[in-house]
This record gives sequence, structure tokens and C-alpha cells, in this order.
Amino acid sequence: MVVIIKNLTKEYSRGGRVFKAVDSACLTLTPGDFISIIGKSGSGKSTLLNMIAGLTVPTSGSVTFDDNELFSLSDTEISNYRNLKIGYVPQGQSLLSKLTVLENVLLPYHMAEKSGDGAETAEKLLEKVGIAHLSGSYPKHLSGGEMKRAAIARALINSPELLLVDEPTGDLDAQTTDDVLSLIKSAAGSGTAVLMVTHDTDAVSYSNRQYEMRSGKLLESAK
Ligand SMILES: Nc1ncnc2c1ncn2[C@@H]1O[C@H](COP(=O)(O)OP(=O)(O)OP(=O)(O)O)[C@@H](O)[C@H]1O
Ligand SMILES: [Mg+2]
Repeated sequence: MVVIIKNLTKEYSRGGRVFKAVDSACLTLTPGDFISIIGKSGSGKSTLLNMIAGLTVPTSGSVTFDDNELFSLSDTEISNYRNLKIGYVPQGQSLLSKLTVLENVLLPYHMAEKSGDGAETAEKLLEKVGIAHLSGSYPKHLSGGEMKRAAIARALINSPELLLVDEPTGDLDAQTTDDVLSLIKSAAGSGTAVLMVTHDTDAVSYSNRQYEMRSGKLLESAK
């Protein structure tokens, strides 16, 4: 899947003033890309990811995947795009509290109506992110980093064509950071396009194209 982002803009208003949280962002993602985005707090990184995930409607501009303009699709088609094509690890806590870790990881699998139970794949992913022992636990009994790792396993369960990850390693120690980034990199190696927001310079070194968000502007960094 090729995703083309053109002049993507999101305006918000605050205190009577309208500002551009994302300002004319352009980016093309092709299979196997591993792109990182750094940028100051409030520069628009999460807003950009939310638009690419189809969760936030842009003020103007477009997100096109395989020749479909995302925001001209119906709600059902947008949900299908989200369930079938993309994996998203949002910045905040995103696990469902009434489901165990394993059930959370399996949720996109069931939503995509895949055959079989997927439990084996889910267990393997949980092993790779180092929390296999927590598969029967509920989110409220997990640390922030453990929840993040469960969200990463959940995002990978359907081998997405596009993986959006917002600060995957913020709560993790060096070894776990390395495990998680290796897993993300191996997804890119098998053809997933990865777009990762991070503050971590070590994480940036895993990516093969680097961008910086500055006051809503997305700029490619020189190598
Ligand atoms: N729903 C909203 N209404 C109004 N302003 C918003 C809304 N969501 C985000 N903003 C503002 O848009 C700007 C960009 O926010 P965003 O969450 O994209 O930043 P970020 O780069 O992800 O920051 P961080 O590194 O802290 O996560 C910020 O100034 C934020 O306050
Ligand atoms: Mg953010």
C-alpha cells in the first residue's frame, strides 16, 4: 500500500485565535519505509498521526491510500481501512480496561474477522515485547511501559500495511527499547510502512528517513 499525504492541514481555535496544529504536511509512505518524526511538544505530531489514522478530520489536504481518498470514504470504509490496513499505537493509554492483555491484542484480529483464533500469533508478539507472562492480566495491573508494549503487540497482530506509532519507547528501559524497536524494524523489513513519532535519538537511528515537526510544518531532516 502506498499512502500519499498532501498539504494536510488541521486548524484548531483556542481563546478566539485560530492556529494550524498541522500546516500543509506532505509525505509519501511506501512499503518497507521506516520514517521517524521528532519535534517539540505541541508541534503537531500526534495530530498528524490521528489524521493519517482517519480519526481526526483535516481542515484541508488529503490522505490517499491505493488511490482512495480517505476522507471521501464512508464511516464504514474508514473503519475498514483502520481495522484491516493499519496498526496504530496512540500516545496515551489505549487498552480496554475490561479485557485482559491477550484479549486486547486479539481485538483487531476479531474485528478483521480473520479465521482461527489468532492466539498463537498474539502470544508470540507478547513474547517478543517481553510481556508474555502478563497475557491474562488486566491493564490496571500493568505499568505504563507494559501497557505500551501490549498496545504495540495489538497494533502488529494483523500484520498491518501501515504502522503508526506515537512515542513507542517513552516509558521503556534501554533493553526493552531495543527489543521493541527491533520488532518494529522487522515489521518494516517484511513490507509494513512505519511512521514513528519519538523524542528518543536512539529510536531515530532505527529509521531510514527522518523528519522534524516544527510548529505544524513537517520538514525532512538532512542526513
Ligand atoms: N482537540 C484540540 N483542540 C484544540 N487544540 C488542540 C486539540 N488537539 C491538539 N491541540 C493543539 O494542537 C497542537 C498540536 O498538538 P499535538 O498533540 O499534535 O502535539 P504533539 O507534537 O503530539 O505534542 P507532544 O509531543 O506533547 O505529544 C498543540 O498546541 C495542542 O494544544
Ligand atoms: Mg503527541
